[in-house]
Amino acid sequence: MTFKQIPFGQPILGKEEKKAVEEVLSGPILVHGPQSELFENSFAEFTGAPHAISVSSCTAGMHLIYHTLGFGPGDEVIVPSQTHVATAHAVELTGARPVFADSELKTGNVDAATIESLITARTKAIAVVHYLGVPADLEKISEIAKKYGLFLLEDCALSPGARFKGMHTGLIGDAGCFSFYPVKHLTTAEGGMIILKDESLAQKLRLLKAFGVNRSHGQRTIPGDYDVVDLGYNYRMSEVHAAIGIEQMIKLPTFLNKRRANFESLDSLLRSKNGFRILPQPVDNIRISSHYCMGLILDSELSTNRTEIMNQLRVKGIGTSIYYPHPVPHMTYYKKKYGDITCPNAESISNSIIALPVGPHLESSDMQIIADGIFSVLSVFK
Ligand SMILES: Cc1ncc(COP(=O)(O)O)c(C=O)c1O
Repeated sequence: MTFKQIPFGQPILGKEEKKAVEEVLSGPILVHGPQSELFENSFAEFTGAPHAISVSSCTAGMHLIYHTLGFGPGDEVIVPSQTHVATAHAVELTGARPVFADSELKTGNVDAATIESLITARTKAIAVVHYLGVPADLEKISEIAKKYGLFLLEDCALSPGARFKGMHTGLIGDAGCFSFYPVKHLTTAEGGMIILKDESLAQKLRLLKAFGVNRSHGQRTIPGDYDVVDLGYNYRMSEVHAAIGIEQMIKLPTFLNKRRANFESLDSLLRSKNGFRILPQPVDNIRISSHYCMGLILDSELSTNRTEIMNQLRVKGIGTSIYYPHPVPHMTYYKKKYGDITCPNAESISNSIIALPVGPHLESSDMQIIADGIFSVLSVFK
């Protein structure tokens, strides 16, 4: 029997992106050019950000921010346990220490109530992740950041289009970093964007994303003549990647609408059924989700069979994933370095979640196929 294949994620790249890439490849400028500036302007306009800075990935963007702020050995940044390892690596790469906070069971977002007790004299920043696209409790967390004079970084890898009290995620804290990895809301193959309000920090980030060179290509009166005024990385985005991003920005509102519609239809098919609960749940009416995916949190008897359930869904053509497979402090690298760190809520979510697709590569009719597949597979294990 053949089934319709429903991948977990799939980039949607059409003739527009191909034409844009071809045009860049036919011209003389592959970096330092107008495409990255146009992409930045378009992202700034979409989010309402005063400054948008393209970078080579979300991880690069977060690392660049900590590097630019001068973080290093002896400093600490509070990060969620329930996240991609990038959120912690960006801190670790500077020599500073990530200090892990547990999640709320209800949303999977960092539990704001646990943050204050983790603050020490060494704490320099708080990083939040908008888990599965639902904004974290930015009101409480911003208050804590302000009270202790800490930088607030929003890891917005899963949250383009997500808003908190009407403001785009990334603009409530001091900076936000987005990812354009292939299965994200929009893609440039690899790529990222920093958004922020502070002009002087934006200038420093632009300098340090390109070696610390004082004059970019376009600003040089004598070709090849520049000075290096600081220690920076090469975290630039190429013109080829930016050209894809410009076309993806045009499609982003349609992508987001389709995600929302798919999420809502899958939600109405699955809600009130037994054996699991759904993440994210509507929390309040001040948070707008970007609907990255739907998390099915299996009840404890079912979660012991998660691998087999995912395998059987795969056999039916239904792609799934796990967000995230282990809390970051339980990943081997961090466990070896920092020892046993308990985060029971993050652990419980990691052990019981099956992430279901709702991306714009799917139609509303695919949601019925996913729901039917789930009912049929779970009935075997109940
Ligand atoms: C929350 C989060 N932050 C950061 C990243 C890393 O993004 P990038 O691959 O653009 O560095 C990811 C990747 O999935 C992620 O889920």
